[in-house]
Amino acid sequence: MKPADDPNTDYRALVQRGYDRCAAEYDQARQEEGHPELALLTDRLDEGASVLDIGCGAGIPVARTLAQRFQVTGIDLSIAMIERARVNVPEAAFIHSDIMGAQFPSAHFEAVVSFYAIFHLPREEHPELFHRIHRWLKDGGYFLATVADTNEAPYMEDDFFGVTMYWSNFGLKEYQQLLTEIGFRLLDISVVGHGYRADEEPSEEHHPLIFAQKIG
Ligand SMILES: C[S@@+](CC[C@H](N)C(=O)[O-])C[C@H]1O[C@@H](n2cnc3c(N)ncnc32)[C@H](O)[C@@H]1O
Repeated sequence: MKPADDPNTDYRALVQRGYDRCAAEYDQARQEEGHPELALLTDRLDEGASVLDIGCGAGIPVARTLAQRFQVTGIDLSIAMIERARVNVPEAAFIHSDIMGAQFPSAHFEAVVSFYAIFHLPREEHPELFHRIHRWLKDGGYFLATVADTNEAPYMEDDFFGVTMYWSNFGLKEYQQLLTEIGFRLLDISVVGHGYRADEEPSEEHHPLIFAQKIG
């Protein structure tokens, strides 16, 4: 783990490049893993509901599971990931874009999901991202996302699927406070693992999964 505090480094470009290079390995690692937690949404949304998947990666398993019943739009910074997602989940729509540069109409989605992606954006952008999500959701719409447990300084690791990768996050307490202040009601907090296939390296890794609802 190395600090990521060089003002001259473009960490967003590093993330983009990294996922472009490791897309095949990442896609492969996610192939067999399901996310039973998606039932939080599938149990509540009407058939055909509009769902945005932020940092959708190769579309597996999240977009693929949701696209069985809902209209899914996936968005990702990495073109290699988007190309894979288009093949893996042909029934969904995919956009190649930084989420911070994306524009959607207000009150457009019934739900927004984001698995293992928000911590790749600089954490000072997280409040603005949550404001955008709040704006894009219909009243009563749901937000389901992995965040992080502990507030730590931005850092990099050199061997994430063979590439250098960057993470930046606050802790769970800060995320709970932020979302509440922005106008979400927290409905549930559970924990998910790293999400890779069972034959991947065992890992202690876990992430809080926040389930929230837009209240105003
Ligand atoms: C760990 S992968 C998770 C992929 C997928 N959500 C999953 O569950 O397998 C993180 C993804 O977030 C994407 N990402 C990172 N920063 C992003 C940004 N600013 N805008 C959109 N996507 C981003 C990466 O390109 C990568 O595909």
